[in-house]
Amino acid sequence: MKILIINGPNLNLLGIREPEIYGNESLSDIENWLNEQLEVADHSITWFQSNHEGELIDRIQEARGNADGIIINPGAFTHYSYAIRDAIAAVNIPTVEVHLSNIHDREDFRKVSVIKDVCLNQFSGLGKTGYLKGIQQLIIF
Ligand code: DQA
Repeated sequence: MKILIINGPNLNLLGIREPEIYGNESLSDIENWLNEQLEVADHSITWFQSNHEGELIDRIQEARGNADGIIINPGAFTHYSYAIRDAIAAVNIPTVEVHLSNIHDREDFRKVSVIKDVCLNQFSGLGKTGYLKGIQQLIIF
């Protein structure tokens, strides 16, 4: 299975950024950990991170015909990007939403996800395990 893992704005600063909320591990630490957890031989995982909404949308569109599933942590775009929501709906690739922190237990503006309804599921507050659960869900889907 070909899985694309997309991370949005400020997730390139994991490990530095608000460690009391997001932990001490960098995005590449999480990537390495995830590869160790998986029978990677059976699956190809591609990682993409951008701080730019348009680049995230371009990458979702490029996934057509190139990915069987998408894991996305859109960062703050989660809460207001109808354009990312529309891109996910347009490509019609099974997609799982992931958040490291529990967005339902933070500021009110974070409780809303405008992409939730176009995703198979949302994993929030499980840290890096959320990415693993997302992949497992795509594999059994
Ligand atoms: C986040 C939660 C968002 O509210 C925030 O803007 C992020 C990270 C998370 O993984 O917990 O950038 O998506």
